[in-house]
Amino acid sequence: MEVSEGGVTVAVPEERHGASEGSGDGVFYNPVQELNRDVTVGVLRAVDCDSYLDAMTASGVRAVRAADAGYDVTACDVDEDAVALARRNLERNGLDGEVHHRDVNAHMHEHYHDVVDLDPFGTPVPFADAAVRSGREYLCVTATDTAPLCGAHFESGVRSYGAVPRNTEFHAEMGLRVLLSALVRTAARYDVAARPVLSHVSSHYVRTYLRLESGARAADRRIEELGYLDHCQRCLWRDHEATLVADPVEECPNCGGSTWTAGPVWLGPAHDAGFVREVAAAIPDGFGTAAESRGLLETVADELHEPTHYDQHRLYERWNEPATAMDGFLAALRAAGFDASRTHYGGTTFKTNADVAAIREAVD
Ligand SMILES: C[S@@+](CC[C@H](N)C(=O)[O-])C[C@H]1O[C@@H](n2cnc3c(N)ncnc32)[C@H](O)[C@@H]1O
Ligand SMILES: [Zn+2]
Repeated sequence: MEVSEGGVTVAVPEERHGASEGSGDGVFYNPVQELNRDVTVGVLRAVDCDSYLDAMTASGVRAVRAADAGYDVTACDVDEDAVALARRNLERNGLDGEVHHRDVNAHMHEHYHDVVDLDPFGTPVPFADAAVRSGREYLCVTATDTAPLCGAHFESGVRSYGAVPRNTEFHAEMGLRVLLSALVRTAARYDVAARPVLSHVSSHYVRTYLRLESGARAADRRIEELGYLDHCQRCLWRDHEATLVADPVEECPNCGGSTWTAGPVWLGPAHDAGFVREVAAAIPDGFGTAAESRGLLETVADELHEPTHYDQHRLYERWNEPATAMDGFLAALRAAGFDASRTHYGGTTFKTNADVAAIREAVD
């Protein structure tokens, strides 16, 4: 089966993991990730880099799209059928690129690339060490293991990410911040400072782009942005502290309920608004998800740099009142002197620097 995406046409298997004719049998292709790939190409067009590693290429769709955007492309896969299909897909588009039948960890330990893109099945952790060494400028990471990341599969999250995740009502952002924590700590081990410049959580995957910079002092500054989140499930109060020496809050200061502590999570900005706007502007009209991608990026760019978000409906449930319209709700917070923004995590979500008691008072 042929699919056209972002101006290129590639052959992909009939269905995911499905048996199809020819040597594409079993090679992975997920049409739902088109937005992920459109945003990736937006990033590649926005930054001033030359070489791109599609670390787990499968059908080669990312490699083809990056080559089409003018990149010097290298791709790897451990699956022979994937390698053959990726080579054919580059060829059919008249594009150059090296496709290696190799464990990409071995490749990344030997070769540098300006941009390294990890798109594994599940967790990216087994590839993170080699990737921060191989990437010169940017590291792009997809994680699809959202249950471990957000605390729904607690032990698995602790094992993979070396952090305590908690299944709060802002679970998607918990997952992102646990992933960022692990990536920042992995980079720091090699005296590399990793700084997230764009992150989003969409249809059950987490995607983040980190700017890499060499230097022990710079890496130390990133570590200073890790810390702990305390959260009350009863009234949705939360607080955070940037520290590696945990000092958990035992009792919710707002309602007296018991609290949960998560961490170390990334507490710093998950995006750089200027960068995100440049990426939005670099997405061509012809991309299949152009409107959706730009809409997502505009929302991300406008998000406050608070490490957690609220779900307005969950708050009103706690207050035993019907929820009000979001625009008026956010306007009330601003009128009371607080910052407030929507978030890309959902239509009823928002960020603010007001605590839960101040929110109640501001919108009452
Ligand atoms: C989720 S798919 C990649 C999808 C592709 N990037 C896309 O956008 O459609 C993951 C791929 O990683 C490959 N893979 C798994 N372990 C690998 C390893 N150690 N080195 C290289 N490739 C690997 C699998 O064979 C599979 O094709
Ligand atoms: Zn409470």
